[in-house]
Amino acid sequence: MTVPQVIVKPIAVPEGSGVDFGVEISGIDLEQLNDDQFSIIKEALYNYQVVVFKNQQHVSPKAQFELTQRFDPAATSYGHGKTLDAKRSILHPDLKTIPHQPQVQVIGNGFIPSYEGLENIKLKHPHHKTFHKTIIPEEDDLDFTRFYRWHIDAALYGLAPPVVTTLLAVKVPAGRCQICRYDDGTGNELDVPLGTTAFVSGYTMYDVLSEEDKQFARTTKVEYAPHPYVWMSQAKSRSDGLGMLSEGLEIPLENLSPIEENKIQRLPMCWKNPVTGKLAIQVHPSAVRKLHLADGTVIDNLQEVREIVHRIQRGGIAPKYVYAQDWAEGDLVLFHNRGVLHSVVGAFAETEVRLFRQCNVAASYFPEGPEGVEV
Ligand SMILES: [Fe+2]
Repeated sequence: MTVPQVIVKPIAVPEGSGVDFGVEISGIDLEQLNDDQFSIIKEALYNYQVVVFKNQQHVSPKAQFELTQRFDPAATSYGHGKTLDAKRSILHPDLKTIPHQPQVQVIGNGFIPSYEGLENIKLKHPHHKTFHKTIIPEEDDLDFTRFYRWHIDAALYGLAPPVVTTLLAVKVPAGRCQICRYDDGTGNELDVPLGTTAFVSGYTMYDVLSEEDKQFARTTKVEYAPHPYVWMSQAKSRSDGLGMLSEGLEIPLENLSPIEENKIQRLPMCWKNPVTGKLAIQVHPSAVRKLHLADGTVIDNLQEVREIVHRIQRGGIAPKYVYAQDWAEGDLVLFHNRGVLHSVVGAFAETEVRLFRQCNVAASYFPEGPEGVEV
């Protein structure tokens, strides 16, 4: 029997791209993963943040969960825990749970008669018109699109942010391209494959800051809203998908489910890579509520908080720093959820059927900031 050689090579990016992360690994069957292969994957993950495997359509939900959990063996429950059950949560319509592997969710677009114990499911690809303040007019909607919501996969209340996420493309509609517009007055735009998942590096986001902003980011802590995905459910996003507008539309705290103070998260603005020691700006911009500065000042004016966070993060999502995955059926992408931000992109017609599996698990430990773990 010949054992295929494992090859790790950088992902292809367009000329002039500033993307310095992402590798493709070939020669590994994720259904039959051994310890040596996992070591290669782990090293690649922490050094390159995004790892692409081709031709993995046969991988079972169980094997997908096991790969995901292997990065944090003490972690067991889905990254959002049971918070998805909250009907008011903005995450509720986007995900369906696989009954026999509840840490794995099905996402996509269109009607699926039967899949992994789920019957007659209707999936809807998130569209920016349901989340952004302004929208691309209907007549332009097939040609132009937006970043839906830049984020980290994390509950941000109680549960620690998952270390990694895996995404498997089971069914991908025939490709066309769209132009992703920032619509923020900069004229920035980016050609993207239909239904891409966009990634940016939190390390680049840090590196491009001025020395003054780096210092601010290293010493500032971000406090997230309790029940953040319900709290933000009436508010509207900026056109670049990088955080919310402040129009007073957040659900008042007294109208949320009872708040357990010890579940409110205050996390460093910069998270340290456990292998390289590099710092990433890792902030979920939509869920931010307060900033705690080094001198003890607490900024709790929501508009001011959001302006500051947007200023810190915007440089890192410039078109040349975005990696847009051109999905093919069987692609499995593993990403370092503590080192990149990602966003859904694109608009599908109802007839365009797309089926993906997503898995992440709430971590057993919190991320390390510039000076260690502080929660
Ligand atoms: Fe996500």
